[in-house]
Amino acid sequence: MTHARITIDRDFTIADVPRRLFGSFVEHMGRCVYTGIYEPGHPTADDRGYRKDVLELVRELGPTVVRYPGGNFVSGYRWEDGIGPLADRPRRIDGAWHTIETNAFGLHEFVGWAREADVEVMEAINLGTRGVEEARALVEYANHPGGTYWSDLRRKNGAEEPFDIKLWCLGNELDGPWQIGHKTAREYGRLAQETAKAMKLVDDSIELVAVGSSNRYMETFGTWEHTVLTHAYDEIDYISMHEYYQERSGDAASFLAEAVGMDAFIDGVVATIDAVKAAGKHAKQVDISFDEWNVWYAEGIDSDDQPNQVKKEWREHPRLIEDTYSVTDAVVVGTLLNSLLRHGDRVRIANQAQLVNVIAPIRSEEGGPAWRQTIFWPFARMAALARGRILRLAVSADQLATEKFGDVDVIDAAATWSEQEGRVALFVANRGLSEATDVTVDLRGLGVSGVVSSEVLTIPEGGDRHTSNVESAPDAVGLTPFAGVGVQDGSVRLNLPPLSWAVVELEVAVS
Ligand code: AHR
Repeated sequence: MTHARITIDRDFTIADVPRRLFGSFVEHMGRCVYTGIYEPGHPTADDRGYRKDVLELVRELGPTVVRYPGGNFVSGYRWEDGIGPLADRPRRIDGAWHTIETNAFGLHEFVGWAREADVEVMEAINLGTRGVEEARALVEYANHPGGTYWSDLRRKNGAEEPFDIKLWCLGNELDGPWQIGHKTAREYGRLAQETAKAMKLVDDSIELVAVGSSNRYMETFGTWEHTVLTHAYDEIDYISMHEYYQERSGDAASFLAEAVGMDAFIDGVVATIDAVKAAGKHAKQVDISFDEWNVWYAEGIDSDDQPNQVKKEWREHPRLIEDTYSVTDAVVVGTLLNSLLRHGDRVRIANQAQLVNVIAPIRSEEGGPAWRQTIFWPFARMAALARGRILRLAVSADQLATEKFGDVDVIDAAATWSEQEGRVALFVANRGLSEATDVTVDLRGLGVSGVVSSEVLTIPEGGDRHTSNVESAPDAVGLTPFAGVGVQDGSVRLNLPPLSWAVVELEVAVS
């Protein structure tokens, strides 16, 4: 048995929970759009081709904002190809994913789907092969009421009212040599600055995300952000972060500690933003949009003999990177969400990549069923229960040795407090693979009167840490009632099983 102690003090808070932290991502990649959210002819499809079984799972997952249409895809995309009568839409080559894009699904279809799913649209523009003119035309098309060329074209295409899209990404991963239209930081910084200016001249209510580093191992990480921000600080509102995580060479301990790396990555970007702010004597604060993150077993993406990877032949919506997630992956995802929440004062937007089929919490089969992957659960519960203020926790815990991060706490935790509802929600993972952890939670200034709900995700009976949800066993791993919670003299005791992620909702009152 290992031990940990969490001290909560109601006066120590970080920020209001940014609801946009629970975002997701739909890219024209693999089967995320086609046979994912959209499949005319599927038994559950509505008259617009939206899969209702998938929509139901999306509503249950509870994302608040969805980034679209890419990803690497957007850097070669012409948004005009996806509007107007279906018969007139061109079939195009998508170089990013070596795919044929039919353009049957475009901006109107996505906005319609987002309304059904009750999510905010976060629209990415192409700054790979395109620039200022196409970007400002798109803002006019989407957001201008009418009486101009682009806004009247939108009305002619069936949308009388503006889409009113507030959140825009100024391109995608342009620091990456793999990106169509890859740029130096200086080239991108100037382009982002001028594009942002022109877009805000069309609609000054929009919020803009500049491209940050594709991950913290990029050679240009740090200098990229510094240069881009130095050019565009006044014109933008957020800088992006992207990172994917995976278990390498069976080193589960390091993988389970990846939230430590995410914490450090975020702290580094915050420091860079604030250095540019100080040097430039800027008054406003730029924040972070962590708009691609997840577990992704990325090795072999270009290898022709791997299933689900990019192939040489040109195909429509091929199966691409349809990772199947395990119990271990779900616990890691829970800790990554904790890290995002702990930084909610500066990370104001985050998007798990992606939503359906492509490295996703939801899987679907063409003409067949849809189901929840293991990683669905921490996201769904945190999106639903993280309310009010984020609490600053003091954690002292037994240590676990890891190769990548040295000694780390055996638990990873985050919590929120809704004074209005009289609830504390605690999200806590046990990284230990073999021992249960006894956790004492001391809530200073908050009297606990009961446990509202408690659930745990862990290794199911008869399974192991690799157990997954698959089409033939879609509910093998899920949340089960968590019996190991006790309330005594104002403290809460948790007996967390090895390799587990738990959510405990407490009834509290200011004492
Ligand atoms: O989400 C998959 C891909 O990962 C995205 O297209 C790209 O932005 C990132 O490299």
